[in-house]
Amino acid sequence: HRKYVAFQPVAKKDRRWPDQVIQQAPVWCAVDLRDGNQALVKPMSVAQKQRMFDLLVKLGFKEIEIGFPAASQPDFDFCRKLIDENRIPEDVKIQVLTQARPELIERTYEALRGARQAIVHVYNSTSTVQREQVFGLGRDGIRDIAVRGAALVKELASQHPETDWTFQYSPESFTGTELDFAAEVIDAVNEVWRPDQGQPVIINLPATVEMSTPNVFADQIEWICDNVRYREHITISLHTHNDRGCAVAAAELGVMAGADRIEGTLMGNGERTGNMDLVTMAMNLYSQGIDPKLDLSGMAEITEVVEACTEISTHPRHPYAGELVFTAFSGSHQDAIRKCLARRNEGDAWNVAYLPIDPFDVGRRYEEVVRINSQSGKGGVAYVLERDYDITLPRWLQIEFSKVVQGEAEQNGGEIDSHTIHRLFEEHYLKV
Ligand code: KIV
Ligand code: ZN
Repeated sequence: HRKYVAFQPVAKKDRRWPDQVIQQAPVWCAVDLRDGNQALVKPMSVAQKQRMFDLLVKLGFKEIEIGFPAASQPDFDFCRKLIDENRIPEDVKIQVLTQARPELIERTYEALRGARQAIVHVYNSTSTVQREQVFGLGRDGIRDIAVRGAALVKELASQHPETDWTFQYSPESFTGTELDFAAEVIDAVNEVWRPDQGQPVIINLPATVEMSTPNVFADQIEWICDNVRYREHITISLHTHNDRGCAVAAAELGVMAGADRIEGTLMGNGERTGNMDLVTMAMNLYSQGIDPKLDLSGMAEITEVVEACTEISTHPRHPYAGELVFTAFSGSHQDAIRKCLARRNEGDAWNVAYLPIDPFDVGRRYEEVVRINSQSGKGGVAYVLERDYDITLPRWLQIEFSKVVQGEAEQNGGEIDSHTIHRLFEEHYLKV
């Protein structure tokens, strides 16, 4: 295993994040239409993009990255369509990505002409591997690309004062960049933009590739928060990818470590293993009593639109959104859920075994929770008869009848629906 080297935690004695809980929701930025779209086998059509944009607005996102217009004509056309057809609500900022290259920055401003407000997101890659093996440049060369890009972003914005501009810079491949160099580039960009003089600035720190455990990522975020100039005037944003399967965990620890804003996508679509899943992170906050300021109560609609736009189906075990995530087949789980629900009073704190949140809060019903197969016990079968047919069985009959249902389930090998349970009950006990 010498082929791979572990990332070390950043030495720091006065840590901020390990004993924190998140106090409030970060600012969200949805990048479904850019990072999500660029990773699809078949990029979204205009109709699909519009549907996704409308969903994101409906859910409450106020910052939405809509594409990379200088690199893609469909992205350029979609940006123009949103602006020309006046489809952007007043309280929503569109964000567009551009590399720090003059011709691309110029084209980006063409795409944004006439926008009421916009975030210009400029990036260049800063990691050792990219510097040495992709660009063949030293630290100075890479820093100069960022500074020249920042200067042009500022100059072109000044030519369009009708738009309310926010500038965003990403040191792409931040997680592979030495921290002192990342801070040097960020400082150099901010010396051009001068957030202390009123220019809104977002510094976005991407785990372009997730390379370390989430605690090391949080160390890096904390270090940057403590070591860049103008910290109190800038928004620190995170953009995590899921290569190690920890994008949400990294984002959560990153917020504890000091970040203000998170970029991600619905259901985690995005490059390779995807971006940070906004649904999971927002619902994690919700389940800890923090208002995520997003409306995820219509999860069925969210998954339907995301599936229609990405042409990727939702995994049945996807946190909070999958078909099976509130379902119990096993007898002991069914029994415990049934008892907790029966004892629950309106207004009680949620405290139901095996159900981390109330399924109702994402538009699901208690009734779906209990489903029957050969793993299920008497409690579940009795619950289904009571729920769907108003038939209450005495305990001795629950025991007897559950064996009948179990036998049927073993034979059929799958799920037994409530109609079949009722038929079996009729056949065994009601027919003469
Ligand atoms: O993953 C990444 O680094 C990106 C940047 C362009 C922000 O998508
Ligand atoms: Zn990305």
